[in-house]
Amino acid sequence: MALNFIKKNDKHNNTNWCKLFLSALIPCILGIFTIIFTVQQQVLSQQQHEIDRQNQRDAQRETAFNAYINDISNLLLNTNHTNKTNFFLYIRTKTLTVLRSLNPERKKYIILFLYESGLLQGTGLDLSGAELDNVELIGPYKLDGLYLPSTSWENALIVNCSLKKAVFRQSRMPNARFINSLLESALFTETILDNAYFIKTSVVGINFISASLIHANFLDAEVVQGIDFTNADLLYAQFTEKQWLGQRVSTNAHSFRYARLPNGSFGDLSPTRNLLQNGDAEQKCSTLEEINWEESQVTNGLNIIKFNKTSVVDMNIDNGTWGNCTFVMTTRNARASQYIDLRLYSRLIDMDNAMFSSSTYIGCNGSTNAPYVEISTYELNGNIMETPVYLNHTENTANKVGMMHQYSIQKYRLLKYTHRARVTLGIRLSQPNNIYCYFDNVTFAMQKRFN
Ligand SMILES: *[C@@H]1O[C@H](CO)[C@@H](O)[C@H](O)[C@H]1NC(C)=O
Ligand SMILES: *[C@@H]1O[C@H](CO)[C@@H](O)[C@H](O)[C@H]1NC(C)=O
Ligand SMILES: *[C@@H]1O[C@H](CO)[C@@H](O)[C@H](O)[C@H]1NC(C)=O
Ligand SMILES: *[C@@H]1O[C@H](CO)[C@@H](O)[C@H](O)[C@H]1NC(C)=O
Ligand SMILES: *[C@@H]1O[C@H](CO)[C@@H](O)[C@H](O)[C@H]1NC(C)=O
Ligand SMILES: *[C@@H]1O[C@H](CO)[C@@H](O)[C@H](O)[C@H]1NC(C)=O
Ligand SMILES: *[C@@H]1O[C@H](CO)[C@@H](O)[C@H](O)[C@H]1NC(C)=O
Ligand SMILES: *[C@@H]1O[C@H](CO)[C@@H](O)[C@H](O)[C@H]1NC(C)=O
Ligand SMILES: *[C@@H]1O[C@H](CO)[C@@H](O)[C@H](O)[C@H]1NC(C)=O
Ligand SMILES: *[C@@H]1O[C@H](CO)[C@@H](O)[C@H](O)[C@H]1NC(C)=O
Repeated sequence: MALNFIKKNDKHNNTNWCKLFLSALIPCILGIFTIIFTVQQQVLSQQQHEIDRQNQRDAQRETAFNAYINDISNLLLNTNHTNKTNFFLYIRTKTLTVLRSLNPERKKYIILFLYESGLLQGTGLDLSGAELDNVELIGPYKLDGLYLPSTSWENALIVNCSLKKAVFRQSRMPNARFINSLLESALFTETILDNAYFIKTSVVGINFISASLIHANFLDAEVVQGIDFTNADLLYAQFTEKQWLGQRVSTNAHSFRYARLPNGSFGDLSPTRNLLQNGDAEQKCSTLEEINWEESQVTNGLNIIKFNKTSVVDMNIDNGTWGNCTFVMTTRNARASQYIDLRLYSRLIDMDNAMFSSSTYIGCNGSTNAPYVEISTYELNGNIMETPVYLNHTENTANKVGMMHQYSIQKYRLLKYTHRARVTLGIRLSQPNNIYCYFDNVTFAMQKRFN
């Protein structure tokens, strides 16, 4: 109905409509203007409020920063630091507290201040746990020996800095950018440097052991030589061919042992390298000095545990085959162990790509099946990973008295997150009296399951 009415009166009432429209439009515009103005005012006052708040926060930061600098300066000037432990602990606490409230720019000045005061050069002050994300060090600064292990420093920007022998061990520094800087002999052990890039920077003699360098970019680095990449993760990292080979004027090759290479394969792992110390009993065998094997003292009242090394006198096993010395166990229930640290193989192990092989020779001067070699594995917190495994006879000569027999285990898969292994030589309780058993050439070696 309403629509029809408008249509009917359309032609006759054009001017009236126009007037009506205009008279309605003006208050409407005014209304809209008022609304816009009010909103704008609100936005402006909100912005003003935000600016005020920021200024206030900035003033607070400035106050905190100044108070900190004064405090530490006074401490450095006036105190007779008789107790260094307390002195460094105090500075550490104050620094970590103030860092929490500061912006990256002021954090930078704290680092520079501490460094110039001689406190951040690895001589006592430890800022582990500090948060330095987005701090930019745009030099020229000479910061050789800067000591900042175990910090979080995401998006670090380091330009024109000399950081020779600096320590960034175990820090988190993803996306770090090193430009025009010197990093000779710096320590980045276990540091996370994913997506890092190195431009016109000298990357020489660096310790990147167990560092994570996924997608790191070395292409524009100045020198890339003599780096220890053992157990590092270099997946998708970029190098020129010469950089990869450590070539420049001369060649100073890198070590890629057990590292994950850019193409996902794993670096060199000598599959026969014996990780046991003194497995062949040849070290210091003429004396009773440290022999690298820990004895366990099991006292059941009857047996005294003896773990001896001696020239074999009563067995026809030594025609030069066993060197000058061998281990001997003379009592039942004896045990002697050696731990093997597997942390340098963590890249392989944690990617489920590791296995081990182990072998030993055992011979006794009487009939017995009591001697054994046991291998157990442990995770980081020391918990045992799985039930221990035992080396088996490889030949069918087990009962022949007076001969050395080979026992071994081949290509046994290590569970992910294995941290250590323990190799134990032992004699079970079932050992008959008066039998001596000899152990020699004990080995434990790591292998890759696939490439
Ligand atoms: C520092 O304090 C110790 C003991 O409080 C005192 O023996 C020593 O003389 C003091 N040194 C200085 C330089 O004041
Ligand atoms: C320094 O102080 C700490 C904590 O109070 C204390 O454990 C330590 O023994 C002191 N060292 C010296 C050298 O006085
Ligand atoms: C680095 O610092 C030197 C002075 O020490 C200066 O000559 C040079 O221009 C700086 N380079 C950059 C990239 O800032
Ligand atoms: C991966 O890269 C390494 C080093 O450049 C090379 O030796 C190896 O053959 C490559 N492996 C594969 C499967 O391409
Ligand atoms: C080790 O064996 C040798 C030779 O059998 C013996 O003389 C020596 O007393 C033994 N040492 C220990 C600690 O049992
Ligand atoms: C060791 O040498 C002796 C004599 O020198 C010999 O009788 C014996 O068969 C040899 N044993 C082995 C295992 O070669
Ligand atoms: C055992 O070790 C000794 C000393 O390292 C070595 O000379 C000998 O060849 C080894 N014997 C065997 C059978 O592996
Ligand atoms: C055994 O002893 C001799 C003489 O002391 C030495 O020359 C030789 O290198 C020793 N053998 C081993 C495997 O240590
Ligand atoms: C050792 O031999 C036993 C019995 O033949 C077998 O069950 C076990 O799996 C073997 N152990 C290894 C490590 O091969
Ligand atoms: C084994 O050797 C030891 C030491 O030489 C000796 O005392 C013992 O009687 C021998 N045992 C046997 C069963 O021959």
